[in-house]
Amino acid sequence: MSNTNETQIQLTYVQKCSDLLPSIYSGRRPTYHIQNEGCQMNSLQTESVAAMMEKIGYEKIDSEEADAVIYNTCTVRENANQKIYGHLGHLKSIKRKNPDMKIILFGCMMQEQHVVDTIRKSYPFVNLVFGTHNIHKFPELFFRTLTSDSQIIDIWKESDEIVEGLPTSRKYSFKTGVNVMFGCNNFCSYCIVPYVRGREKSREPQAIIDEIKSLAADGVTEVMLLGQNVNSYGKTLEHPVSFAQLLTQIEQIEGLKRIRFMTSHPKDLSDELIEVMAKSQKVCHHLHLPLQSGSSSILKKMNRRYDKEKYLGLVDKIRTAIPDISLTTDIIVGFPGETEEDFQETLDVVSKANYDTAFTFIYSKRTGTPAASMPDQVPEEVVKERFSRLLALVQENGRKASSRFTGTVKEILVEEESKEQGMLTGRTEHNLLVHFEGDKSLIGQYVNVSLDTCKGFYYFGHLV
Ligand code: SAH
Ligand code: SF4
Ligand code: F3S
Repeated sequence: MSNTNETQIQLTYVQKCSDLLPSIYSGRRPTYHIQNEGCQMNSLQTESVAAMMEKIGYEKIDSEEADAVIYNTCTVRENANQKIYGHLGHLKSIKRKNPDMKIILFGCMMQEQHVVDTIRKSYPFVNLVFGTHNIHKFPELFFRTLTSDSQIIDIWKESDEIVEGLPTSRKYSFKTGVNVMFGCNNFCSYCIVPYVRGREKSREPQAIIDEIKSLAADGVTEVMLLGQNVNSYGKTLEHPVSFAQLLTQIEQIEGLKRIRFMTSHPKDLSDELIEVMAKSQKVCHHLHLPLQSGSSSILKKMNRRYDKEKYLGLVDKIRTAIPDISLTTDIIVGFPGETEEDFQETLDVVSKANYDTAFTFIYSKRTGTPAASMPDQVPEEVVKERFSRLLALVQENGRKASSRFTGTVKEILVEEESKEQGMLTGRTEHNLLVHFEGDKSLIGQYVNVSLDTCKGFYYFGHLV
């Protein structure tokens, strides 16, 4: 279900906030600072809140000494939480000097009861707290914040609504992420996302297509379709559509050159999707396929619903259909009960799967998840030692895998100026970074570059 009426209501609150600014700030333009933690889906929502702040009339600055400071939080691992509490300590001292400053927290971490309790008790100087289900209400909540001195907390447990048509902004004019679904129903036993993001909801295909069409008309040539598990896209729609069918429709959009997506859960990766990827001129040959563990018994305890053999079978199938595919993955080390033998299985899959990149994480206990109360939590020293062995292997294999294009010419989307003077940075369809000499007028364009030397995970090249 989508609701555009709600968007209209919120736009009236944007105006109401705007009308208040001259009297609050005596005619000067107020500033805001916004920061994003967590995944790319979170950053799209951060961009949406930023767009609403701009519409209200605030100017973005890159410093916490602003009239409003906003954090979009993540809680996937404990260190993400610690970071926010650290920031709050710092903000407290800034606010002492500027008592009218508004401090706003929202996003995944705020969906946890113990977090909200802590903020209420120990951080009374925070002005507004909301969660992941009512981001579309931001203008209304911000209006209340501007007109009240008390702490406002508004957390919804769940929502079955997708509100379309909210203001958005984007970092690059030529590429952006697009949410295709929200929430997650998989309940991997270590993961907090299903609890803080709620049940899986897919956007209507037409809403996605209309959005991408207007993005393409506005100069976007590369989109990244986002969801916790895009392979189960569309299953809960009134008229079910598969992710592969959605890709096929998006591919027709004129002006669009590259389509990426993430994340794919191995349990739902269909032959239909592999076929669409293999045939498509626009879907990039890059697949992020989180492994989590190579041990079938740990995978079972993780509730991942595939085993080592099924995963390696999938990798084979994909490499046969798309020989130049770039595979990347996520791996967790130190899940409860992980033995040295289990860990060896993970190393074995890493050796066989030939990843370009693997993101490696130390298992972090999340309150309320089944894994938090599992026996045999692995001691910290053991986890750290395994983690460094895994990292060494991942890096060695990644360097080898990434260097396979040395000496070839590839089409690059030029993204920005590199740190080095006169150099530009762009990406191949395989998501490999390339630095090369060129004029900044090329930013946003596709150019052919010869990949001369591989420096591990990126290349130096030259325009051809
Ligand atoms: N939906 C995606 C993952 C989203 S979270 C998927 O299923 O692939 C991104 C990554 O964070 C996960 O792939 C996992 O590797 C890691 N992660 C999630 N929960 C974690 C935890 N409790 N401890 C450590 N890493 C975790
Ligand atoms: Fe978490 Fe698993 Fe859902 Fe990914 S699929 S968000 S790891 S529960
Ligand atoms: Fe973090 Fe929420 Fe994304 S917990 S990883 S920001 S969905």
